[in-house]
This record gives sequence, structure tokens and C-alpha cells, in this order.
Amino acid sequence: MRHALCFVVLLAGCFNAQNAPGEEERPPSGPTYRQDVQPLIAQSCQGCHTQGGIAPFALDTYDEAKRQAGAMAAATTSRQMPPWMPEEEGCVPLKGSRRLTDAEVKLFQSWVEAGTPEGAPAAPMPAKLEKPLERVDVTLKLPAPYTPRPELTDDYRCFALPHGQAVDRDVVGVNVKPGVRKMVHHVLFYAVDPAQAQASDDADPGIGWECFAGPGTNAKMLGGWVPGTSATQYPAGTGIPLLARETVVVQIHYNVAQSGAQADETSIELQLADGRAAKPAEFTAMANWWFNIPPMTMGQVVEASVKIPLGGGGTVWGAFPHMHTKGRAISVTKAGQCLIDVKEWDFHWQQSFFFESELRYAAGEEVKLSCTFDNPTSSNVTWGERTTDEMCLVYFYVTK
Ligand code: HEC
Repeated sequence: MRHALCFVVLLAGCFNAQNAPGEEERPPSGPTYRQDVQPLIAQSCQGCHTQGGIAPFALDTYDEAKRQAGAMAAATTSRQMPPWMPEEEGCVPLKGSRRLTDAEVKLFQSWVEAGTPEGAPAAPMPAKLEKPLERVDVTLKLPAPYTPRPELTDDYRCFALPHGQAVDRDVVGVNVKPGVRKMVHHVLFYAVDPAQAQASDDADPGIGWECFAGPGTNAKMLGGWVPGTSATQYPAGTGIPLLARETVVVQIHYNVAQSGAQADETSIELQLADGRAAKPAEFTAMANWWFNIPPMTMGQVVEASVKIPLGGGGTVWGAFPHMHTKGRAISVTKAGQCLIDVKEWDFHWQQSFFFESELRYAAGEEVKLSCTFDNPTSSNVTWGERTTDEMCLVYFYVTK
């Protein structure tokens, strides 16, 4: 992989070297940075590759893009970049897909082959506006700035964030404001019994507690964020009940590889319905809890299936598949239709996926979940919350 990459980088250099003097002045015939490459980078890469972003280098300027041209061509051709796990062929379309089209992948290559020309400045790039929530009712803040533990590259930390509402209200919109963008890889938040949260917090010194697997599977998921996500308005008329007696627990995945450990103050804005939303929504889980993956076993398939019982049908809007680090692949189908198909699972890039259009489901339809695991260790691996345990789980965002 490294060798292939260097080869492409070298090639880019060679093309540049071959430019005869004066040749630069001819209008380039291939794609140019200003006309073609910059808009694509803005759309698909700068959510992370920007000054202060989570990626190891910025792609904000022509010089930066030119320097990385060969690496960009290699990383997009191999589909390593942009990070996006689900296959799309044959599955229902997903909102916010980061997957590049074949033409977009080819664009990076053609630009390298053309000698990475800058081209004439196109119309000035419109500044990317961060869309705010329609209304912010509550802002949840960490109890105090948290500095990830530098001895862990990946620190999964939970914090209890009381919401202070005296009545039950539904969450209809969420907006996560990552503190140190270079460190915050994902944010997931849940409604939890405050006593349970307090017990976890008390058991771990420092602010919050270590929670690789989240705050426990009986927690009610409220929302999530990954780099590049802006404010999320839940589908019109739907909302997730947040009860007065619950507290919010947020799990933040910190990765300190790019930035070192710095004090973080991530916050979460919630938009709440006045009372209840028209259609209460929930992230409802389906899982196989009973598997055993024997030692030194690769490619073990664990499956779960349910016949939809929920009152004769409803609507499913999205899904959040979940395994730990021994997961290799995970897929979800509904009546034989592919909803999510991840062929190369990466625990560190997990996120929820919303469908382009909501799907109706009918009573009696079968929903199937399939997880594939590699267990190279000398121990049996079963369901559990620890890093060394596994899960085969999917949450669906559903309404009646
Ligand atoms: C969601 C965040 C994110 C997005 C979007 C993204 N990257 Fe990356 N990129 C990363 C991170 C993080 C790394 C560091 C390596 C890793 O963690 O996989 C990286 C690494 C790379 C590398 C180095 C690969 C290597 O082998 O070392 C290249 C080249 C790259 N990205 C290009 C791109 C291009 C081109 C795009 C857009 C088409 C893009 N990235 C979009 C986060 C992102």
C-alpha cells in the first residue's frame, strides 16, 4: 500500500518535471484545481481535512492539495477515503453519503496525470454555512473541561449532562458542537436513568467515566454526530421522548493521535417540541446476544432475525449498526431488501445512517441482521460491554 502510494506521488512529480518552459501558460486541457478539484474537496474532504480538523493534514489551499495529489488519488481509488463504510450498490440510498462516484475518483487521477494544474479561479467558493437548529431550547455542557488520557490513543468517555426540564418533551433536533475538533471523532448521546449514570460516574475517578461500549444497552439513544455532520432536524413530525426524570449521557470518542491530549468542552444543543411531537420516535434495538466465537476462528457469522411485530407496521427512517473491534462485516435486510451492507467494518468510524426516503414496513416482514467476526485471540468471545467482548446489534429509528 505504502509502495503504491509513493509510486503515484513520484509519478505526479514526473509529470510536473516534464512541463517544458512556457507550457504552463497554455490553458490546461484536463481538470484543474479551481474548476474541478477544489469544489470536490470542499464537498467531500474538508469536513475533516481542514485546519484544526481530525485528519492529519489540511486540504484548504492549492499548495496543500498539490502536495497531496498522488496520495489523494491513491486513497480515493482504494476507497480508503473518504471514510464511508456502507456499500451502496443494491441498497437503499443513504442521506449524507460520503461515497464518491466513479467519475469523482477518476477526477483525482486525471488531475495528477494532467500535472496538477491550478487553472483559472472559478467563481469564488461559497463559504460553507453551518446550518443552525431552527431553535435551541437546551444547551448541554460537560461538567468540566475533559482532557483525554494520553496513554490511550482512543479514549471513549461518558459524561452525565442533566437537561433541567421539569416536564417530558420530545427531542426534535440536535446539534453537536465538538470542542477540540482534532480530537473528537464521534459523539453519541442517550437518555439514561440518573441513578445508573451516577453509579458509573462514582466508580471511575475524574470527570465522567470510561465507557467503551456506551452507557449500557438499556440506555435510550437520542442522537449522534460524526465529523462533517451539521445540525440534524429529525424527520418532520417525529421526535424522541426525553423524560423529566431522565438524564442525558454523552459518549465521546476522543482520538489524540493528531493533536495530543487537550482540554475539551464539547456541547450539545437540543431543540425540544412544545410537549410531545406528533409521532414519538425511538431507536429500537435488534441483536443477537447469545453467540460464542471460539478462539482462533475467522469469518464466524452471527445472525439475528425478527418478524416485525410492532402493531401491524410502521416506518423506519434510519439505522445504527454496531459491533466492537472483532467485527469484520455487518448487514441488515428487510424482506430481502438491503438496508445497510458494511463489508469492512471499522469500529472507529461507526455512525447512524438515515435513509433518503423513509420505508414503510408491514407486519410479518422479516428483518435480518448478519454480523461476521474474526477472533484471532486464544479466548472465547461473547456478548459484553468490555473492549474484549463483542456485540451484534442494530438500532432502527422508527415511528408507528
Ligand atoms: C470523516 C473525516 C474524513 C473525510 C471526510 C476525509 N478524510 Fe482523509 N483522512 C481522515 C483521517 C482521520 C485520516 C488519517 C488516517 C485514518 O485515520 O484513516 C485521513 C487520511 C487521508 C490520507 C492519507 C492516507 C494514508 O494512507 O495515509 C489521504 C490521502 C486522504 N485522507 C485523502 C482524503 C480525500 C481526498 C478526501 C475527500 C475525497 C478525504 N480524505 C476525506 C479523515 C477524513
